[in-house]
Amino acid sequence: MQIVKHINDLQPILNDQRKKGLSIGFVPTMGALHNGHLSLVEIAGEQTDFVVVSIFVNPTQFNDKGDLSRYPRDLQKDVDLLSESPCQLVFAPEFEEIYPESDTRQFNFGMLEQVMEGEFRPGHFNGVAQVVSKLFDIVQPDKAFFGQKDFQQLAIIMELVRKMDLPVEIVSCPIIREADGLAMSSRNMLLSQEQRQNAAHISATLFEAANKSIDLSVDELCRWVIHRINQNEYLNTEYFSIVNEKTLLQVNNWSDPGKKIGCIAVHCGKIRLIDNIVFEV
Ligand code: PAJ
Repeated sequence: MQIVKHINDLQPILNDQRKKGLSIGFVPTMGALHNGHLSLVEIAGEQTDFVVVSIFVNPTQFNDKGDLSRYPRDLQKDVDLLSESPCQLVFAPEFEEIYPESDTRQFNFGMLEQVMEGEFRPGHFNGVAQVVSKLFDIVQPDKAFFGQKDFQQLAIIMELVRKMDLPVEIVSCPIIREADGLAMSSRNMLLSQEQRQNAAHISATLFEAANKSIDLSVDELCRWVIHRINQNEYLNTEYFSIVNEKTLLQVNNWSDPGKKIGCIAVHCGKIRLIDNIVFEV
């Protein structure tokens, strides 16, 4: 597995692979890797010939400076984990490599960026779009792999590709969870032992909610989820919304058309956790 820090070193390697007729798979990450990330790398290995993983903590997508400075970083540990995976190349650039000058581009994703994470993390998706569009331009992958854990991000990336007509296929990969149900996240390692135990209450409530959708209206269920999570003294819900999978607009009735996803953001102390669940109604 090769580790590359500079775009100038990366591109000849990727061109060689393309000349050999090999397809390029790409998994963008911010490091602090866990089995959720590694599942994306496994899927990339099954679907493409040469797998590139990027590790770059992108400052432009952090609206909270504390969150950025707390964000865990351990490149050597990440490289060790990836060396056991189908990843063939790690791209770990410094800030100046990605942003030689400040990126002033403003993307417009309409309602997709105004709800949920967009409402509570202003500028976040603009930063994600900036870095992902730059990374796509640098790596020029045939396929790029994203997790459903960040459901709204996935919708935004698909819209980015559609709008800019980029020649990359976006592959949506399932959420990987800890044994107690908590969605894996790099931020989980910042939780104290007690917070970590109580954080499992988030997914447990979502699973319970998925079974309650027969008895309660959409609105009643939303209120039930928020109340139940907030009963736990370690947890404070920022939002819980049941939205249409494609438009991300709130669902009013279970009979509304389309697949329905319940998306949640919860504060556990200083740490903000997100998760989501599909409602099979
Ligand atoms: P990061 O949070 O490191 O996540 C990288 C990828 O791993 C994302 O596609 C995310 O959805 C996926 N992922 C994280 N936890 C997962 C889990 N438990 N199960 C399945 N997939 C999971 O998302 C980002 O980085 C950044 O915004 C990025 C796209 C790299 C742009 O900076």
